[in-house]
Amino acid sequence: MKNNKIGWIEQELTRLKEAGLFNTIRTIESPMDAWVTIDGRRLLNFCANNYLGMANHPRLRAAAKKAIDESGVGPGAVRTIAGTMSVHIELEERLAAFKKAEACITFQSGFTANLATIPALVGKDDVIFSDELNHASIIDGCRLSRAKTIRYAHNSPEDLRRKIAETTEYGRRLIVTDGVFSMDGDIAPLDQLCEIAEEHGILLMVDDAHGEGVLGKGGRGIVDHFNLHGRVDVEVGTLSKAFGVVGGLVAGNQTIIDWLRQRGRPFLFSSAMTVPDTAACIEAVNMLEESTEQVDTLWSNAAFLKQGMQQLGFDTGHSETPIVPIMLGEAPLAQEFSRQLLQEGLFAMAIGFPTVPKGKARIRVMNSAAHSQEDLEKALEIFAKVGKSLGVI
Ligand SMILES: Cc1ncc(COP(=O)(O)O)c(C=O)c1O
Repeated sequence: MKNNKIGWIEQELTRLKEAGLFNTIRTIESPMDAWVTIDGRRLLNFCANNYLGMANHPRLRAAAKKAIDESGVGPGAVRTIAGTMSVHIELEERLAAFKKAEACITFQSGFTANLATIPALVGKDDVIFSDELNHASIIDGCRLSRAKTIRYAHNSPEDLRRKIAETTEYGRRLIVTDGVFSMDGDIAPLDQLCEIAEEHGILLMVDDAHGEGVLGKGGRGIVDHFNLHGRVDVEVGTLSKAFGVVGGLVAGNQTIIDWLRQRGRPFLFSSAMTVPDTAACIEAVNMLEESTEQVDTLWSNAAFLKQGMQQLGFDTGHSETPIVPIMLGEAPLAQEFSRQLLQEGLFAMAIGFPTVPKGKARIRVMNSAAHSQEDLEKALEIFAKVGKSLGVI
């Protein structure tokens, strides 16, 4: 029977399909790794944010299994109600030390870390200066806070200065930016933003989801990359990308972290990360502290692939990191490109509006330390074939 209440949703779904903007979500039948199985076929994987190949690493798997045997699976309730498990405290202490921050708090995801942090720092009489290309979770955190949000031009300290000067009525103020912009792979000029924040006495927050485990010495993140220890008030991160697991973190000033334990709503009203997730993340920290090998491999893989793509004639935008966008323009072309890559044995997703602006659709190629040299050469071969068949190069 036709349900009239949802007719508009059917129309919207049809419209998305016609515009080439409908998300087709593939089922992965294997662990997340350099190669994955989809529909029974082994495919080279360039989709995942599994930068360091941790998602299926034997050491993380073993740590998770051991933790289950010792401490069970779940935390039982939110931490303020059922008590916090020692494994969560251990992870927070280890992350703070790794990142050379005063303190750290973990959340269920990077998304909830942003939803917790922004409304805890600013409210309806306050002002947020937010980079125009910030991630959806920052945008939602800003909305939840009810503060006035003023967008400044992407990665433009000049425009930020202008916007600050124009804003004369405010209570508290917060500057917020992605660290690495996930769709273009460019890095925020955090050193300059930090100077502006200090000059004006404004809180500074960076969401380093794609810099965590990637930027800085041995993957210590964007604050380490710019050597700004102690000067950035809030550094949000995720444990779902380079760390290969799931979870979010906020590292920074002790007082702010104490405040988030009292006022971060996803901390207060939602259960913590599971035990095996947390233990696997501790093992990831162990590995990063022992050696920079995986981080080094990630960067050399990324340099090789990016250069290869450019030599083939692809436009890789202005990426400065292992995120390599292959700029294609219209969404249907990007979708067809992705489909043909899949046919040739390579999994890389097309990204279109609303994730990126209209007319800026692309294939986003995500590098990983898990890729071998042979994998990278194969990828370039496949991209060349599809690029030529679609007249892109
Ligand atoms: C900049 C940024 N912040 C936050 C998130 C959310 O992280 P998580 O997957 O841990 O929720 C992402 C993930 O795509 C991101 O790119």
